[in-house]
Amino acid sequence: MNANKALWEKGDFTRIARSMKESGAAFVATLGITEGLEVLDLGCGDGTTALPEARLGANVLGVDIARNLVEAGTAHAQQAGLTNCRFQEGDATDLHDLDDDRFDLVVSIFGAMFAPRPFDVAKEMVRVTRPGGRIVMGNWIPNDPTLVAQILKISSSYSPPPPEGFVSPMTWGVEEQVLERFAAAGVPAENVSCERDTYMFNFPAPPSELVAEFRTYYGPTMNAFEAATANGREAELEAELEALFEGQNASGSEDVTSIHATFLRVTVAV
Ligand SMILES: C[S@@+](CC[C@H](N)C(=O)[O-])C[C@H]1O[C@@H](n2cnc3c(N)ncnc32)[C@H](O)[C@@H]1O
Repeated sequence: MNANKALWEKGDFTRIARSMKESGAAFVATLGITEGLEVLDLGCGDGTTALPEARLGANVLGVDIARNLVEAGTAHAQQAGLTNCRFQEGDATDLHDLDDDRFDLVVSIFGAMFAPRPFDVAKEMVRVTRPGGRIVMGNWIPNDPTLVAQILKISSSYSPPPPEGFVSPMTWGVEEQVLERFAAAGVPAENVSCERDTYMFNFPAPPSELVAEFRTYYGPTMNAFEAATANGREAELEAELEALFEGQNASGSEDVTSIHATFLRVTVAV
């Protein structure tokens, strides 16, 4: 079994993505999408950025390793009447179904960063982008003090050590590593820019309920709770996450959650 696929099919990321829809649309609005642009949304989940891309007139293909998320994205696009937005299963490390130079824009928001073999991922993203096209990635940053980097850090501290040779997804949030991976795919450093940007998680209930959503539906946190429960540390993990979410809640109300998360926005001119 592919552990990467199993991790994301284990939960139901659509439940987490509900809190990311506004930022997804706001992010897409900055991409300069025009009618008829050919867009690949890689690690698309249930279409948080793919649907807004299609609403702006792009022809969008969403590719994701998780079958349940491909099904959810397809259903959302159908409900929205977006015939220019399709979804299919695929692995960012090997996009063999997709021709060279096929897309004007490849977008991967907190998606391709989770694939193993990052050098293969960079090579594949460059291969399917036409010369003159662009790649835009959003990647969480290791040791960043804001929400998602901290959830992943806390979750991994309760989880069993990863297998030997495992490359942390968070390394995609380090500029030097990003430059090295695209250089190996043939893109010079001057064609790659990295800047900090912000996503907002909005949830219409208290922070503890958003923690419960992560605990029940977000693969990395589900695994952490399984390991913590086996070690009698479940309450400790829950308290640590609740303190994080409550401490970062900027909504001004205890009954509503609104939390900023900083990420590295990577733009590559191919
Ligand atoms: C944090 S979610 C982000 C989803 C979506 N981009 C969004 O912003 O809502 C990470 C996504 O990457 C997908 N993913 C993980 N590894 C992948 C791989 N090797 N190839 C394609 N997708 C992958 C997961 O299935 C999941 O949908």
